Amino acid sequence: MLLEIESLSVSYRDAAGAVVSAARGVSLSLDRGEVLGLVGESGSGKSSVALSVPRLLPSPPAFYPEGRILFEGRDVLRMSIDELRRIRGDRIGVVFQDPMGSLSPLWRIGDQLVETMLLHRDVSKAAAREIALEWLGKVSLPDPARVARAYPHELSGGMQQRVMIAMALMLDPALVIADEPTTALDVTVQKDILSLVKKLHAASSAVLLISHDLGVVSFLSTKLAVMKDGEVVERAGDVSAFFAHQAHPYSRALVAEARKMSV
Ligand SMILES: Nc1ncnc2c1ncn2[C@@H]1O[C@H](COP(=O)(O)OP(=O)(O)OP(=O)(O)O)[C@@H](O)[C@H]1O
Ligand SMILES: [Mg+2]
Repeated sequence: MLLEIESLSVSYRDAAGAVVSAARGVSLSLDRGEVLGLVGESGSGKSSVALSVPRLLPSPPAFYPEGRILFEGRDVLRMSIDELRRIRGDRIGVVFQDPMGSLSPLWRIGDQLVETMLLHRDVSKAAAREIALEWLGKVSLPDPARVARAYPHELSGGMQQRVMIAMALMLDPALVIADEPTTALDVTVQKDILSLVKKLHAASSAVLLISHDLGVVSFLSTKLAVMKDGEVVERAGDVSAFFAHQAHPYSRALVAEARKMSV
């Protein structure tokens, strides 16, 4: 198994010392070639769980009262900073809702892609630049050379999102985590972006796709988990069976809402 999250609890300690529980007893697994859709209402703990995998939640305030996150058999909750740095980007690529979460406003797009490539791969600068341009083309950006010269703020939201996908996928990660990759975009751009993720992630890689929108998730996922108030209330190994029948009342409400939205 590529990723096994076992009885994970995630909490935050606020400035006054009070503890907020964001997730409790969450168990999820994900193997190569699978796309796990994690759905649930705002605040249900989806990001807290997903961003814990590459340890992207600053701790403090986040901490882990319980559980393990086995990635390629090793618990990321026990890895050193050096080990974590190595797997981030290299083994795990992340696409955020807000592209500025992974793009620096200070550097040209091309330079950011090249730097990322040089950090993780033993290639020359010229080769890195070539790969970067190739990926800007792969995410269907018109005129990759112009995009490479641009600063992030000179691109539209949809273009930034594409750049971020290129950045996350160009290192051929074993796991792609996409946390609400499309919510900031209008509906037609959302479809394009998801189609890109679907097309470009390697057949052998796994995707953890987070959304509060079941329609978005059903488009890509091979399996599903539903979160509510920090807990997984339903898991489905078969997405079409899940759409035909939901075990949990909250899942039924989500499906009913998704059906309403799609007509
Ligand atoms: N830095 C933080 N400090 C304190 N509490 C936090 C922090 N980040 C998240 N939380 C709390 O943890 C809970 C889960 O939040 P989380 O962001 O994981 O939910 P989510 O399902 O991703 O929601 P959304 O769909 O809105 O992105 C919420 O109650 C939230 O208020
Ligand atoms: Mg979230």
